[in-house]
Amino acid sequence: MERAQRKLEHIKYALELGDGPGSTHFEDIRFLHNCLPEINPADINLSVEIFGKHLRLPFLIDAITGGTDSVTDVNAKLAQVANALGIAMAVGSQYGAVRDKTGYASYEVVRKHNPNGVVLANISELATPAQAQEAVAMLNADALEVHLNPAQELFMHEGDKDFKGLLDNLLRIRDGVSVPVIAKETGCGIALEEYERLKAEGITCFDCAGVGGTNFPAIEAARQGLELTDDFATWGIPTAWSLLDGSLCCKKEDLLIASGGIRSASQVAKAFALGADIVGITGVVLSLIQSSGVKVAVTYFEDISRQLTNYLLLLGVSKPQDLRRVPVIFEGATCNYIDCRGFELATLCKARR
Ligand SMILES: Cc1cc2nc3c(=O)[nH]c(=O)nc-3n(C[C@H](O)[C@H](O)[C@H](O)COP(=O)(O)O)c2cc1C
Repeated sequence: MERAQRKLEHIKYALELGDGPGSTHFEDIRFLHNCLPEINPADINLSVEIFGKHLRLPFLIDAITGGTDSVTDVNAKLAQVANALGIAMAVGSQYGAVRDKTGYASYEVVRKHNPNGVVLANISELATPAQAQEAVAMLNADALEVHLNPAQELFMHEGDKDFKGLLDNLLRIRDGVSVPVIAKETGCGIALEEYERLKAEGITCFDCAGVGGTNFPAIEAARQGLELTDDFATWGIPTAWSLLDGSLCCKKEDLLIASGGIRSASQVAKAFALGADIVGITGVVLSLIQSSGVKVAVTYFEDISRQLTNYLLLLGVSKPQDLRRVPVIFEGATCNYIDCRGFELATLCKARR
């Protein structure tokens, strides 16, 4: 009962609070116009392969919900959007469901509406390998997101505040499941230092989920009638910075998902330029399906895809991932970030990842 209530409150406050107030810092990145793009629209290809399956468009509706009957309809609609577009979808955390053996139907509905698509399971770092494998089996999932969310847990009244031993448990989960594991934040970003620690342990798939969109610490505070102040109101790593860090660590064969406050074609194009393989968009999709329905959410992704094509045409590349090799200009706080982190500004301006 408590878990069901929490799931509904997450949706309620995510919709009420919307994005921010922290910035993604994509606004600090500018493309350089190419007056000889030498490309034909017929050459543009937005499709991508992940986990051995084909996505028609390079997007993911990231983890939102599941676990109680009252959100089955939300997952059904999200799956219909993903199926209509040929994009990937993750379900919300299945930890409570596999622990209490309840609420399975609210997740299984996703496979019903998207039988052949890329579907990602989602679980807490606290899960046992057997629970994690059960979450995967529930969906016949293509991969498993393990969420790393210390800031959310800290500000969640009923959250788990003991962060010791979680990396070891994440590795036990990785060793115990039949699909690839994705290390995923929930809106506070991943820094180079943690990408490197995870990579050193053999984790090769990441979802940066940085600052700029859904603000989980703020959602948890709002559930208690509180408002976050000081640094905690914008706690975390802006998505553009977390992606830069990821691009410095990830190899071509690794998977880097960009997410956190990505809402426009401009941000999508810049996310690819910073090294993303695919882009996750979450809070705004929840808002669209709840306020306007499946069709409008499908149109939202189609509009972004059309505009993304314009970016590719003007920049002279045929695939979003090729934006990594076009020159970009870093401005403002992101320039300062690159400087403070000791990264090579001129090298990053030329190419990333
Ligand atoms: C209502 C809601 C519930 C969420 N629940 C989960 C969850 O269970 N597990 C998880 O990994 N992320 C969860 N997230 C985080 C998203 O997957 C995503 O990382 C985050 O919203 C950042 O993307 P956005 O700014 O595009 O919304 C949730 C997001 C929302 C809006």
